[in-house]
Amino acid sequence: MVVWTDAERAAITGIFSKLNCDVVGPNALARCLIVYPWTQRYFAKFGNLYNAAAIMGNPMVAAHGKVVLRGLDKALKNMDDIKKAYTQLSELHSEKLHVDPDNFKLLADCITIVVAGQMGSAFTAEIQAAWQKFLAVVVSALCRQYY
Ligand code: HEM
Repeated sequence: MVVWTDAERAAITGIFSKLNCDVVGPNALARCLIVYPWTQRYFAKFGNLYNAAAIMGNPMVAAHGKVVLRGLDKALKNMDDIKKAYTQLSELHSEKLHVDPDNFKLLADCITIVVAGQMGSAFTAEIQAAWQKFLAVVVSALCRQYY
């Protein structure tokens, strides 16, 4: 069971209240697809992912980036049992999509970079630590249904 301090809860809630998910989601997913090109293999139906410009301009990437960020909202609302909240999402990525779970951490890191860029100096070391703990729990929960 994950223990959260009041400061961590406040930091994570604070980030979500400031985030523009419709910007962070698309940018983070695009960054992941560009920097770790092997992740493109799961998104064959998204069409043209030929180069960075194509990825950043691809409306399906943008739409899915928003879906992923909204998926994080579920973790925020269930911070005391993220594992349970993500059971179905983990099953989907494992059994249906066959996503290599190593990729979860890569996307999480891209999300952190984009969040940091958006928050600027408000993204202090303490806030960053709480945020990365939150994403580590999300990644661990997404990995749960793999065997
Ligand atoms: C679908 C969240 C990481 C590949 C989804 C959905 C959500 C989600 C909420 C929609 C589920 C539904 O329709 O019921 C997340 C979160 C991640 C993550 C929170 C980690 C922070 C990844 C990674 C990959 C991936 C790393 C591949 C490299 C996919 C694919 C779909 C999907 C292929 C289906 C897309 C479609 O058919 O439109 N994900 N995901 N996900 N995810 Fe993830």
